[in-house]
Amino acid sequence: MESKQTDPAARNLTLGWLLFAIATLGIAGILAFLVAMTRTPAVRLLPSAQSFYTILVGHVTFALIVWGLGFMAALWSYGHFGVEQGAGAAGQSLLARGGLFLAACGCGMILVSVLAGRGTPSLNDYVPVIEEPVFFVGYATFALGILAALVRFLASAVRRWHTLSLASFGLVCAAACVLSAVAALTIGLTRILPGHDPAIGPVPYQAIFWGAGHALQYAYVAAMVVAWQRLAAAVQVPPVNQVAARLAFALYPLFALSIPVLYLVNEPTELPALSRAGLWLGVGLSIPTLVHAALLAHSAFRRAKFAFPPRLPRILPSWRRPEASALAFSLLLYGIGSLLEPSRGGGTLRVPAHYHGVVVGGMTIAFMGLTYNLLPRIGRAVYSRRLALWQPVVYGVGLLILIAGLGWAGALGAPRKTFDVAADAAGVAWLLPMGLMGLGALLAVIGGAAFVVNALISLLVARSVDVGSPAAATVSAPGEGNAAALRLAEGVGPHSRLGQ
Ligand code: HEM
Repeated sequence: MESKQTDPAARNLTLGWLLFAIATLGIAGILAFLVAMTRTPAVRLLPSAQSFYTILVGHVTFALIVWGLGFMAALWSYGHFGVEQGAGAAGQSLLARGGLFLAACGCGMILVSVLAGRGTPSLNDYVPVIEEPVFFVGYATFALGILAALVRFLASAVRRWHTLSLASFGLVCAAACVLSAVAALTIGLTRILPGHDPAIGPVPYQAIFWGAGHALQYAYVAAMVVAWQRLAAAVQVPPVNQVAARLAFALYPLFALSIPVLYLVNEPTELPALSRAGLWLGVGLSIPTLVHAALLAHSAFRRAKFAFPPRLPRILPSWRRPEASALAFSLLLYGIGSLLEPSRGGGTLRVPAHYHGVVVGGMTIAFMGLTYNLLPRIGRAVYSRRLALWQPVVYGVGLLILIAGLGWAGALGAPRKTFDVAADAAGVAWLLPMGLMGLGALLAVIGGAAFVVNALISLLVARSVDVGSPAAATVSAPGEGNAAALRLAEGVGPHSRLGQ
């Protein structure tokens, strides 16, 4: 099975998914810049409320949904390497290539719809939409593409269930959470839409997408933890306790599967009843993540204990790798975002402050670090290692300033998702925090752009590396010593697939 890892067709598919996901993050970043510069006092870039809300829908769609699911599809494709064997391989390849094609076509349509600016933007939580056929058809096409990648990965995972590595097990759990989102969305659509009378009011999108949005959070966090473990291994933290980590991973789909059930036992348009379950869902997300963080901390501590004197380079011999800065900022921002949990301050900018900690900081930086780690394993050298080392720092510091600005303005009562904030008399008090937000946004956009450019050049034009060579195991930092040997001993070397 290992020899198949060098199969160019399989590698190209992962490369294609990575290319797709990173390009969509680039689009999300450009739209984020427009949104942030419109909310920055004295800049106010976009001319009208319609353009602001449409671009905001585009930003959330590309950043939260397309980038998150697209990167996960790249991980599923990578985890799938080498299992296309025997009968059915041709059909599987068709499914694989077709999935990527559908996802790309769907995103093209969503982008056209956002840029055309027609249709009414509806700013529901998690899944905002533009009420316009091209947008909906694009979304459905994209979703079909993601489902194809998911089915292909799950089918191969079931076949080798007894030999799944911890990382592959984590990705299976993430995939199960996505399936739970699909179930919640199906129930939401079939129970809400047929009974809706357009004469009474607008389509209750918030209720339709409430369940799918919550289930996706579980999927993202499970995939983020897979990335944390991989980044930790890259900086020579010993492997975590396997049994405890698998049990913690299994809790994500267990809680996520309760979401479609909630839709069935409650009236799905009764958002207050569903929101009460939000507390249960928050606990369900926190407990396994805390267990994973504790397991990682325990492993890191075990290593640190044996390092004397306890100087940073000795504790983490690989601290000059991009994976180290990415892991540090991902953990830091996820922690800060969690502390800003949004149940207090709903409707204010505290909510995006929370999102930009946990998802934009926690998940996205972890995925950025994992990209640097995966590139040599799919035959591509990282174009600029120096940039890769500093980019998570610039992006992370920018986000910290952005979160401080949003959180401060939120504490003063500044509303979220609002075009004309400063027109209000109280808006004067928000000028300073919103200016701070704008400064952080600029820095975060520079850091994000550095990632997108570096990763795209690495994928498209940088030097190829032989995936079987030791060089592919690592983009090693000077003075790293026998890091590659250690990774091989841990089973996470060049011939491993996310640790298998
Ligand atoms: C350079 C990076 C980014 C910047 C500067 C940025 C900035 C912003 C701003 C200014 C808003 C509008 C807040 C409001 O008016 O209520 C926003 C909303 C949002 N962004 Fe970002 N963003 C960035 C990246 C991302 C990424 C990567 C994600 C997801 C992974 C994301 C997810 C969201 C979500 C979900 C919202 C809606 C928040 C709400 O519901 O209140 N952002 N962003």
